[in-house]
Amino acid sequence: MPPERAHHFALSCLRFVLFLPGGKWLIKNLYTVRSAPVEFFGLMFPNPVGLAAGFDKDGRYLDLLPYLGFGFIELGTVTPIAQPGNPKPRLFRLAKDEALINRMGFNNEGVDALVERLKRNKIPIIVGGNIGKNKFTPNDQAVKDYLICFNKLFDHVDYFVVNVSSPNTPGLRALQEKEPLTKILIALQVANNLKPEAKPILLKIAPDLNKEQLQDIVEIIKNTKLAGIVATNTTISRENLSTDSLTINEIGPGGLSGKPLTDASNQVINYLYSSTKGEVPIIGVGGIHNVPSGISKIKAGAVLIQIYSGFIYQGPSFVKRLVKAISN
Ligand SMILES: Cc1cc2nc3c(=O)[nH]c(=O)nc-3n(C[C@H](O)[C@H](O)[C@H](O)COP(=O)(O)O)c2cc1C
Repeated sequence: MPPERAHHFALSCLRFVLFLPGGKWLIKNLYTVRSAPVEFFGLMFPNPVGLAAGFDKDGRYLDLLPYLGFGFIELGTVTPIAQPGNPKPRLFRLAKDEALINRMGFNNEGVDALVERLKRNKIPIIVGGNIGKNKFTPNDQAVKDYLICFNKLFDHVDYFVVNVSSPNTPGLRALQEKEPLTKILIALQVANNLKPEAKPILLKIAPDLNKEQLQDIVEIIKNTKLAGIVATNTTISRENLSTDSLTINEIGPGGLSGKPLTDASNQVINYLYSSTKGEVPIIGVGGIHNVPSGISKIKAGAVLIQIYSGFIYQGPSFVKRLVKAISN
Protein backbone atom coordinates (compact mmCIF):
# COMPACT_ATOMS: atom_id res chain seq x y z
CA MET A 1 0.00 0.00 0.00
CA PRO A 2 1.41 3.49 -0.76
CA PRO A 3 2.76 4.96 2.51
CA GLU A 4 0.32 7.85 2.61
CA ARG A 5 -2.71 5.56 2.25
CA ALA A 6 -1.20 3.09 4.75
CA HIS A 7 -0.94 5.92 7.29
CA HIS A 8 -4.68 6.69 7.17
CA PHE A 9 -5.62 3.01 6.86
CA ALA A 10 -3.68 2.03 10.02
CA LEU A 11 -5.18 4.91 12.01
CA SER A 12 -8.68 4.07 10.78
CA CYS A 13 -8.20 0.43 11.88
CA LEU A 14 -7.12 1.55 15.35
CA ARG A 15 -10.11 3.86 15.53
CA PHE A 16 -12.41 0.98 14.50
CA VAL A 17 -11.11 -1.08 17.44
CA LEU A 18 -11.48 1.94 19.73
CA PHE A 19 -15.21 2.11 19.09
CA LEU A 20 -15.88 -1.61 19.53
CA PRO A 21 -17.30 -2.54 22.95
CA GLY A 22 -14.35 -2.53 25.37
CA GLY A 23 -12.14 -1.02 22.67
CA LYS A 24 -11.21 2.09 24.62
CA TRP A 25 -10.22 0.01 27.63
CA LEU A 26 -8.18 -2.34 25.44
CA ILE A 27 -6.28 0.35 23.54
CA LYS A 28 -5.65 2.40 26.66
CA ASN A 29 -4.32 -0.65 28.47
CA LEU A 30 -2.12 -1.65 25.59
CA TYR A 31 -0.61 1.71 24.88
CA THR A 32 -0.67 3.95 27.93
CA VAL A 33 1.35 3.89 31.11
CA ARG A 34 1.09 5.95 34.27
CA SER A 35 3.83 8.50 34.69
CA ALA A 36 4.55 11.63 36.68
CA PRO A 37 3.37 14.81 34.92
CA VAL A 38 6.02 17.36 33.98
CA GLU A 39 5.64 21.13 33.78
CA PHE A 40 7.13 23.32 31.06
CA PHE A 41 6.11 26.72 29.66
CA GLY A 42 3.50 26.87 32.40
CA LEU A 43 1.76 23.74 31.02
CA MET A 44 1.38 20.42 32.79
CA PHE A 45 2.26 17.56 30.41
CA PRO A 46 0.90 14.13 31.48
CA ASN A 47 4.18 12.66 30.19
CA PRO A 48 7.14 13.96 28.15
CA VAL A 49 6.50 12.03 24.91
CA GLY A 50 4.58 13.81 22.17
CA LEU A 51 3.40 13.27 18.63
CA ALA A 52 5.27 15.47 16.15
CA ALA A 53 3.59 17.85 13.74
CA GLY A 54 2.46 16.61 10.35
CA PHE A 55 1.05 13.33 11.60
CA ASP A 56 -2.44 14.69 12.19
CA LYS A 57 -2.35 17.99 10.34
CA ASP A 58 -6.12 18.50 10.35
CA GLY A 59 -7.15 17.00 13.69
CA ARG A 60 -8.81 14.03 11.99
CA TYR A 61 -7.72 11.64 14.74
CA LEU A 62 -8.43 13.71 17.83
CA ASP A 63 -10.70 10.98 19.20
CA LEU A 64 -7.99 8.33 18.87
CA LEU A 65 -4.62 9.94 19.63
CA PRO A 66 -5.13 10.57 23.37
CA TYR A 67 -5.58 6.78 23.80
CA LEU A 68 -2.17 6.01 22.31
CA GLY A 69 -0.15 7.12 25.32
CA PHE A 70 1.11 10.52 24.22
CA GLY A 71 1.52 13.32 26.74
CA PHE A 72 0.92 15.86 24.01
CA ILE A 73 0.11 16.10 20.34
CA GLU A 74 1.07 18.79 17.89
CA LEU A 75 -1.50 19.40 15.15
CA GLY A 76 -0.79 21.05 11.82
CA THR A 77 1.04 22.49 10.10
CA VAL A 78 -2.11 24.41 9.19
CA THR A 79 -2.33 27.37 6.87
CA PRO A 80 -5.06 30.04 6.64
CA ILE A 81 -6.59 28.53 3.48
CA ALA A 82 -6.92 24.84 2.58
CA GLN A 83 -4.32 23.69 0.05
CA PRO A 84 -3.73 20.34 -1.66
CA GLY A 85 0.03 20.10 -1.16
CA ASN A 86 2.34 18.55 -3.74
CA PRO A 87 1.26 15.89 -6.28
CA LYS A 88 1.36 12.27 -5.12
CA PRO A 89 3.44 10.23 -4.54
CA ARG A 90 5.00 12.55 -1.97
CA LEU A 91 5.80 10.21 0.92
CA PHE A 92 8.42 7.46 0.59
CA ARG A 93 9.69 4.77 2.94
CA LEU A 94 13.40 3.97 3.15
CA ALA A 95 12.96 0.73 5.10
CA LYS A 96 16.68 -0.12 5.23
CA ASP A 97 17.31 3.20 6.94
CA GLU A 98 14.16 3.28 9.08
CA ALA A 99 13.59 6.62 7.43
CA LEU A 100 11.02 8.54 5.42
CA ILE A 101 11.33 11.16 2.71
CA ASN A 102 8.35 13.46 2.34
CA ARG A 103 7.48 16.42 0.19
CA MET A 104 3.88 16.79 1.35
CA GLY A 105 3.98 20.58 0.95
CA PHE A 106 1.65 21.57 3.80
CA ASN A 107 -1.39 19.71 2.45
CA ASN A 108 -4.14 20.69 4.89
CA GLU A 109 -7.80 21.55 5.08
CA GLY A 110 -7.15 25.04 6.41
CA VAL A 111 -7.25 26.47 9.90
CA ASP A 112 -11.06 26.77 10.06
CA ALA A 113 -11.53 23.01 9.55
CA LEU A 114 -9.06 22.30 12.37
CA VAL A 115 -10.80 24.76 14.68
CA GLU A 116 -14.16 23.05 14.01
CA ARG A 117 -12.72 19.64 14.93
CA LEU A 118 -11.09 21.03 18.06
CA LYS A 119 -14.42 22.54 19.11
CA ARG A 120 -16.09 19.13 18.77
CA ASN A 121 -13.47 17.16 20.74
CA LYS A 122 -12.48 17.60 24.35
CA ILE A 123 -8.84 16.48 24.50
CA PRO A 124 -7.42 15.28 27.82
CA ILE A 125 -3.78 15.90 26.88
CA ILE A 126 -1.79 18.97 25.85
CA VAL A 127 -2.43 20.16 22.29
CA GLY A 128 -0.06 22.26 20.22
CA GLY A 129 -0.97 24.18 17.09
CA ASN A 130 1.76 24.22 14.45
CA ILE A 131 1.19 27.15 12.09
CA GLY A 132 2.50 28.00 8.63
CA LYS A 133 1.88 30.07 5.56
CA ASN A 134 0.06 29.20 2.34
CA LYS A 135 2.25 28.27 -0.61
CA PHE A 136 1.10 31.25 -2.67
CA THR A 137 1.57 33.83 0.08
CA PRO A 138 4.77 35.72 -0.71
CA ASN A 139 7.34 35.72 2.09
CA ASP A 140 7.00 39.48 2.64
CA GLN A 141 3.32 38.89 3.54
CA ALA A 142 3.88 35.69 5.52
CA VAL A 143 3.34 37.44 8.83
CA LYS A 144 -0.34 37.87 7.94
CA ASP A 145 -0.79 34.09 7.47
CA TYR A 146 0.86 33.29 10.80
CA LEU A 147 -1.34 35.85 12.55
CA ILE A 148 -4.54 34.46 10.99
CA CYS A 149 -3.74 30.92 12.14
CA PHE A 150 -2.64 32.15 15.58
CA ASN A 151 -5.78 34.17 16.23
CA LYS A 152 -8.18 31.51 14.95
CA LEU A 153 -6.56 28.70 16.93
CA PHE A 154 -5.91 30.70 20.07
CA ASP A 155 -8.85 29.49 22.15
CA HIS A 156 -8.43 25.88 21.08
CA VAL A 157 -4.80 24.91 21.64
CA ASP A 158 -2.41 25.05 24.61
CA TYR A 159 0.74 26.17 22.80
CA PHE A 160 1.87 27.30 19.36
CA VAL A 161 4.73 26.32 17.11
CA VAL A 162 5.85 28.64 14.33
CA ASN A 163 7.00 26.52 11.44
CA VAL A 164 9.52 28.20 9.18
CA SER A 165 11.59 25.08 8.66
CA SER A 166 9.74 22.76 6.28
CA PRO A 167 11.80 22.12 3.16
CA ASN A 168 8.69 21.49 1.06
CA THR A 169 7.19 24.96 0.74
CA PRO A 170 9.36 26.94 -1.68
CA GLY A 171 11.21 29.75 0.09
CA LEU A 172 9.77 28.99 3.53
CA ARG A 173 13.10 28.36 5.18
CA ALA A 174 14.29 31.82 4.12
CA LEU A 175 11.94 32.99 6.89
CA GLN A 176 14.48 31.58 9.36
CA GLU A 177 16.72 34.56 8.50
CA LYS A 178 17.07 37.25 11.15
CA GLU A 179 14.93 40.02 9.73
CA PRO A 180 11.82 38.14 8.48
CA LEU A 181 11.83 35.84 11.49
CA THR A 182 12.03 38.68 13.97
CA LYS A 183 9.17 40.43 12.19
CA ILE A 184 6.92 37.34 12.36
CA LEU A 185 7.73 36.55 15.99
CA ILE A 186 7.29 40.14 17.20
CA ALA A 187 3.90 40.34 15.45
CA LEU A 188 2.81 37.08 17.08
CA GLN A 189 4.00 38.13 20.52
CA VAL A 190 2.19 41.47 20.21
CA ALA A 191 -1.02 39.59 19.33
CA ASN A 192 -0.32 37.14 22.15
CA ASN A 193 0.09 39.89 24.71
CA LEU A 194 -3.22 41.44 23.70
CA LYS A 195 -4.99 38.26 24.88
CA PRO A 196 -6.24 38.06 28.47
CA GLU A 197 -3.67 35.32 29.06
CA ALA A 198 -0.73 34.78 26.68
CA LYS A 199 0.08 31.28 25.41
CA PRO A 200 3.53 29.73 24.90
CA ILE A 201 4.91 30.27 21.41
CA LEU A 202 7.78 28.06 20.25
CA LEU A 203 9.86 28.09 17.07
CA LYS A 204 10.52 24.95 15.02
CA ILE A 205 13.86 24.94 13.26
CA ALA A 206 15.64 22.92 10.58
CA PRO A 207 18.58 20.63 11.33
CA ASP A 208 20.47 22.13 8.40
CA LEU A 209 21.33 25.49 9.98
CA ASN A 210 25.00 26.33 10.56
CA LYS A 211 26.37 27.60 13.88
CA GLU A 212 26.10 31.24 12.86
CA GLN A 213 22.44 30.78 11.90
CA LEU A 214 21.76 28.91 15.14
CA GLN A 215 23.36 31.73 17.10
CA ASP A 216 21.06 34.21 15.32
CA ILE A 217 18.10 32.02 16.25
CA VAL A 218 19.14 32.02 19.90
CA GLU A 219 19.37 35.82 19.88
CA ILE A 220 15.97 36.19 18.21
CA ILE A 221 14.36 33.78 20.65
CA LYS A 222 15.70 35.76 23.58
CA ASN A 223 14.77 39.13 22.08
CA THR A 224 11.23 38.05 21.27
CA LYS A 225 10.85 36.16 24.56
CA LEU A 226 9.68 32.93 22.94
CA ALA A 227 8.74 30.10 25.27
CA GLY A 228 10.95 27.49 23.60
CA ILE A 229 12.32 25.74 20.54
CA VAL A 230 11.26 22.63 18.66
CA ALA A 231 14.39 21.03 17.20
CA THR A 232 14.29 19.70 14.58
CA ASN A 233 12.30 19.42 11.40
CA THR A 234 13.34 17.08 8.55
CA THR A 235 16.68 17.47 6.74
CA ILE A 236 17.48 18.08 3.09
CA SER A 237 20.71 16.09 3.55
CA ARG A 238 21.00 12.57 2.11
CA GLU A 239 24.12 11.57 4.05
CA ASN A 240 24.69 8.27 5.90
CA LEU A 241 21.98 6.32 4.05
CA SER A 242 22.05 2.56 3.36
CA THR A 243 19.42 2.87 0.63
CA ASP A 244 21.15 2.90 -2.76
CA SER A 245 21.72 6.25 -4.41
CA LEU A 246 19.69 5.32 -7.50
CA THR A 247 16.57 4.88 -5.36
CA ILE A 248 17.31 8.10 -3.51
CA ASN A 249 17.70 10.00 -6.78
CA GLU A 250 14.48 8.51 -8.13
CA ILE A 251 12.57 9.67 -5.05
CA GLY A 252 13.76 13.23 -5.61
CA PRO A 253 13.42 16.24 -3.30
CA GLY A 254 11.87 16.23 0.17
CA GLY A 255 12.67 16.21 3.86
CA LEU A 256 14.39 13.16 5.32
CA SER A 257 13.25 11.97 8.74
CA GLY A 258 13.86 8.97 10.97
CA LYS A 259 17.00 7.17 12.10
CA PRO A 260 19.56 8.96 9.84
CA LEU A 261 18.48 12.27 11.40
CA THR A 262 19.28 11.37 15.01
CA ASP A 263 22.82 12.75 15.27
CA ALA A 264 22.28 15.94 13.27
CA SER A 265 19.20 16.75 15.32
CA ASN A 266 20.96 15.98 18.61
CA GLN A 267 23.86 18.24 17.64
CA VAL A 268 21.47 21.13 17.04
CA ILE A 269 19.73 20.48 20.37
CA ASN A 270 23.05 20.31 22.18
CA TYR A 271 24.27 23.53 20.58
CA LEU A 272 21.06 25.36 21.48
CA TYR A 273 21.12 23.98 25.02
CA SER A 274 24.72 25.15 25.57
CA SER A 275 24.30 28.57 24.05
CA THR A 276 21.10 29.27 25.99
CA LYS A 277 22.64 27.76 29.15
CA GLY A 278 19.60 25.52 29.36
CA GLU A 279 17.33 28.52 29.93
CA VAL A 280 15.14 27.98 26.87
CA PRO A 281 13.16 24.71 26.97
CA ILE A 282 13.72 22.52 23.92
CA ILE A 283 11.35 19.93 22.48
CA GLY A 284 13.64 17.34 20.90
CA VAL A 285 12.45 15.68 17.71
CA GLY A 286 14.23 13.94 14.85
CA GLY A 287 15.37 10.38 14.53
CA ILE A 288 14.01 8.82 17.69
CA HIS A 289 13.94 5.22 16.45
CA ASN A 290 14.48 3.27 19.67
CA VAL A 291 14.58 3.91 23.42
CA PRO A 292 18.31 4.89 23.58
CA SER A 293 17.84 7.47 20.84
CA GLY A 294 14.90 8.89 22.81
CA ILE A 295 17.08 9.15 25.90
CA SER A 296 19.87 10.72 23.82
CA LYS A 297 17.56 13.66 23.07
CA ILE A 298 17.12 14.34 26.79
CA LYS A 299 20.87 14.00 27.32
CA ALA A 300 21.45 16.51 24.50
CA GLY A 301 19.30 19.02 26.37
CA ALA A 302 15.66 18.43 25.40
CA VAL A 303 13.01 18.55 28.13
CA LEU A 304 10.25 16.94 26.05
CA ILE A 305 10.46 14.72 22.98
CA GLN A 306 8.31 14.09 19.92
CA ILE A 307 8.18 11.22 17.46
CA TYR A 308 6.92 10.73 13.93
CA SER A 309 8.93 8.27 11.77
CA GLY A 310 9.77 6.07 14.77
CA PHE A 311 6.06 5.74 15.48
CA ILE A 312 5.51 4.55 11.88
CA TYR A 313 8.30 1.96 12.06
CA GLN A 314 7.89 0.80 15.67
CA GLY A 315 4.11 1.03 15.99
CA PRO A 316 2.02 2.52 18.80
CA SER A 317 3.66 0.50 21.61
CA PHE A 318 6.79 2.62 21.04
CA VAL A 319 5.21 5.52 22.95
CA LYS A 320 4.76 3.45 26.10
CA ARG A 321 8.34 2.17 25.95
CA LEU A 322 9.67 5.71 25.64
CA VAL A 323 7.50 7.06 28.44
CA LYS A 324 8.61 4.24 30.77
CA ALA A 325 12.30 4.77 29.96
CA ILE A 326 12.28 8.55 30.20
CA SER A 327 10.05 8.93 33.22
CA ASN A 328 12.08 6.45 35.31
C1 LIG B 1 5.09 12.86 6.35
C2 LIG B 1 5.63 13.95 7.24
C3 LIG B 1 4.93 15.14 7.33
C4 LIG B 1 5.41 16.16 8.16
N1 LIG B 1 4.72 17.33 8.24
C5 LIG B 1 5.15 18.30 9.07
C6 LIG B 1 4.43 19.50 9.20
O1 LIG B 1 3.37 19.70 8.59
N2 LIG B 1 4.91 20.44 10.06
C7 LIG B 1 6.05 20.26 10.78
O2 LIG B 1 6.43 21.14 11.56
N3 LIG B 1 6.77 19.11 10.67
C8 LIG B 1 6.34 18.14 9.85
N4 LIG B 1 7.04 16.98 9.75
C9 LIG B 1 8.30 16.84 10.51
C10 LIG B 1 8.10 16.10 11.82
O3 LIG B 1 7.24 16.80 12.67
C11 LIG B 1 9.46 15.88 12.52
O4 LIG B 1 10.00 17.13 12.86
C12 LIG B 1 10.45 15.13 11.64
O5 LIG B 1 9.81 14.10 10.92
C13 LIG B 1 11.58 14.53 12.46
O6 LIG B 1 11.10 13.59 13.39
P1 LIG B 1 11.16 11.99 13.12
O7 LIG B 1 12.56 11.66 12.72
O8 LIG B 1 10.71 11.38 14.43
O9 LIG B 1 10.20 11.71 12.02
C14 LIG B 1 6.59 15.96 8.92
C15 LIG B 1 7.25 14.74 8.83
C16 LIG B 1 6.79 13.74 8.02
C17 LIG B 1 7.54 12.43 7.95
